[in-house]
Amino acid sequence: MKIRRFRADDVTAVAALYGRAVRIGARHAYPRKALIAWAAPRLSKRFFRNRMLPTWTFVATVPGDAETRKRFRGAGQGGTLGHGGRHGQGGEVVLGFTEIMQDGHVRMLFTDPAATRSGVASRLLAHALDHARSHGTTSFTTDASRLSRPVFARAGFRPMGHRLRGISGARLLTTRMVLRGDSVVG
Ligand SMILES: CC(C)(COP(=O)(O)OP(=O)(O)OC[C@H]1O[C@@H](n2cnc3c(N)ncnc32)[C@H](O)[C@@H]1OP(=O)(O)O)[C@@H](O)C(=O)NCCC(=O)NCCS
Repeated sequence: MKIRRFRADDVTAVAALYGRAVRIGARHAYPRKALIAWAAPRLSKRFFRNRMLPTWTFVATVPGDAETRKRFRGAGQGGTLGHGGRHGQGGEVVLGFTEIMQDGHVRMLFTDPAATRSGVASRLLAHALDHARSHGTTSFTTDASRLSRPVFARAGFRPMGHRLRGISGARLLTTRMVLRGDSVVG
């Protein structure tokens, strides 16, 4: 698995992955109404392009050979798969992405439901934190979902209380988590 910076031609794959991660990946964790509200405002490609090109956004990819595409059927559909010439036969399949702000807030962490529980999010998060640290960021925050909370906890984030986020009329329970520069992981 390779982790690299998000590019404009990832936008189709990332938007599709986001929708699948919320609607399918999180369906056991939140009521349907909350999932629809969570996914809906952010599904346009323009949203991802405008928002993520200026921020530190990283994607996790694997080579898109026939076997991989069969294994991760439905994952990473779109942009990157269309660049077979540049990225080898079949291009790449995007398995996950994360977005971190320069102030240390991890705004997004999503893994395609076809690829969960194999360390994709943990590796993306570690990569993003390292990148931010190398640019001088020392403290980190996030509003973790029920599913991502253990991933952040393993990276050293500590819970600081729950927040009810209102999105499009629905309410989503998240946990504010903080990682300080002097925190010890474990
Ligand atoms: C949360 C999420 C990013 C984790 O991605 P991942 O690549 O599976 O994460 P990792 O493999 O690094 O870590 C796996 C851990 O995440 C949690 N997890 C992941 N998928 C889960 C699921 N379906 N049910 C319960 N816990 C889950 C578990 O704690 C798991 O550890 P375990 O397998 O030892 O029990 C992914 O499940 C996802 O995108 N979920 C839907 C959207 C979401 O909640 N995003 C977070 C927004 S802050």
